[in-house]
Amino acid sequence: MKKVVLDMDTGVDDALAIVLAMNAPELDVVAITTVAGNVSVEKCTRNSLLLTEILQPDDPPPVAEGASTPLVKQLVTAPEVHGPDGLGGELGTLPTPSRPRLEVPAHEVLTALPRECPGEITLVATGPLTNVARALREDRTGMALCERLVIMGGAFGVPGNTGPVAEFNFYVDPEAAQIVMDSGLDITLVPLDVTTATILTREVLEGYRGTGGDAKRRPGRDLGAILYRALDYYIRYQLKESGLDAGYMHDPLAVASVIEPSIVTATTGRVEVVPGGKDRGRSFAHPPGPGGPEVRIATSVDARTFARLLGRGVLSPTFGL
Ligand code: RIB
Ligand code: CA
Repeated sequence: MKKVVLDMDTGVDDALAIVLAMNAPELDVVAITTVAGNVSVEKCTRNSLLLTEILQPDDPPPVAEGASTPLVKQLVTAPEVHGPDGLGGELGTLPTPSRPRLEVPAHEVLTALPRECPGEITLVATGPLTNVARALREDRTGMALCERLVIMGGAFGVPGNTGPVAEFNFYVDPEAAQIVMDSGLDITLVPLDVTTATILTREVLEGYRGTGGDAKRRPGRDLGAILYRALDYYIRYQLKESGLDAGYMHDPLAVASVIEPSIVTATTGRVEVVPGGKDRGRSFAHPPGPGGPEVRIATSVDARTFARLLGRGVLSPTFGL
């Protein structure tokens, strides 16, 4: 089994990525760290604690809380996409997690675990890169002991989703994104160029609805009801926003690319992230060269294999069909 640490701004697609990772026989989720992004970091932590203890009640992975604001910018959240609580519901409509988060901050966990298991940890980052940048600043040697990093972020040959050119994670904390892109670590970037080819349609979701329950009722600790309500909200937003009756599976694809690395093909390049102005958060890929370290950038995806992994790892086990 491959040890993974998930650094997340636990909104709807991050939640599906947690379910996919924890249900995957190939993966061992060692810890989750949270970062402000889709919603406040406190809500990300509550959502991560709740989901992990429902999925693995006997020995859930620990959750460590990270940055509540980006390195430099003011926090921008996306409750219109993920709901006020990050999982498609109003505040206070989900149960309180039964265990506390770790006292240790996220950026310390991100370097302590690779030091404990050198060369064994894959870090999957699906939120703004504030925690990862802070971990690099405070203990690059520790971070460099990660086997590799898989990061959902950026947009190169497709429009952005936060304004016309920026992807949300890079927009929220462009300075952190640039620090990570320049780190020289083994990084695979999973940008909108490929994640927008992986969607969960309303039709497929409703096909599993048998046990999804009513999206309006308080879901309690029923994972099917929690995820159905979250996905219902997420897909309704997309339908209103773009007419697409589906939700983008951004973060689940990042996890799927660790389960099955051949699901994406990648090129390499040096990534520049625009720090501010009208193009804040925009990402450019430059040819490898003396300008700085390069990263792998996923350019195509096997969407059929992704759909199979999503069905096996999330939809069937959650909705029971
Ligand atoms: O741009 C999409 C990314 O931003 C996803 O990770 C989503 O959860 C948000 O964090
Ligand atoms: Ca995310």
